[in-house]
Amino acid sequence: MALWPQKKNRNRPRVCDPDARPYAVFDGAGLTIGGKQILQGLTLTLQEDRIGVIGLNGSGKSSFVRLLNGLRSPSDGTLALFGAPSAQAEPELPRHVGFVFQNPDHQAIFPTVEEEIAFGLTQLGAGKDESRRGARTFLAQHGCEQLADRPISELSEGQKQLICILAVLVMEPSLLVLDEPMTSLDALASRRIRDKLLSLPQKIVMVSHDLDHFDGFDRLLWLEEGRLRMDGDPDTVREAYRRDVALRLGSEQEPAAL
Ligand SMILES: Nc1ncnc2c1ncn2[C@@H]1O[C@H](COP(=O)(O)OP(=O)(O)OP(=O)(O)O)[C@@H](O)[C@H]1O
Ligand SMILES: [Mg+2]
Repeated sequence: MALWPQKKNRNRPRVCDPDARPYAVFDGAGLTIGGKQILQGLTLTLQEDRIGVIGLNGSGKSSFVRLLNGLRSPSDGTLALFGAPSAQAEPELPRHVGFVFQNPDHQAIFPTVEEEIAFGLTQLGAGKDESRRGARTFLAQHGCEQLADRPISELSEGQKQLICILAVLVMEPSLLVLDEPMTSLDALASRRIRDKLLSLPQKIVMVSHDLDHFDGFDRLLWLEEGRLRMDGDPDTVREAYRRDVALRLGSEQEPAAL
């Protein structure tokens, strides 16, 4: 799979500025798939270092974050990424946006940890031996040197998730997008990964159903039925979201109580 389309287009002028702030500007953006409106009327500017995304199942969170790495393109309105219209930015996005999927088994493609990490370095242009050495150094920098020779399939879910995050980070993306990266992790592993994420220099956009994961974040977006229901500081948005969930539960329970 061609992860780095810009390699084939070396002579094409670069349009993305990886340090651009804002890094994403949505103006009336929407997404329709198979005639179904999945996202609509999104007008917002992303420039903060740590942005969270919440919402009920099916509210459009995964679809929204997929717009950030070009896995999806808006059907309505406009979206600018790293200072360029999304259609022009798309070929360069794999270089600037690291995407971590919810399920590590959907992401990891190589047998061993070292190979998985080394792949990112070969994509950056390093030779085979250089990539392997670089992978070991990178793993050591993140306290994971003992995992280098382990088959990925034999790692625990937490270790797999960490390796998937490192495999993306080794490519030095400017923006890290994570779609529910801690769902299958225990409290300790998810805390460790969250602390690791908060320590990174990268800008982060993260989807999670666990509202505690947004401690230390700058901003929280709440999506509902494909629209932005609320956008603000995490404490305010979390509180409103909790109240809304409680209200929904209350109104569902009323008929049963009668
Ligand atoms: N490829 C697709 N084709 C048709 N409908 C889709 C497609 N992808 C997503 N949808 C629909 O878009 C809506 C939003 O889906 P999305 O996966 O973005 O939600 P989500 O908020 O990430 O949900 P969850 O919390 O369950 O992961 C859902 O109704 C889903 O069925
Ligand atoms: Mg989702």
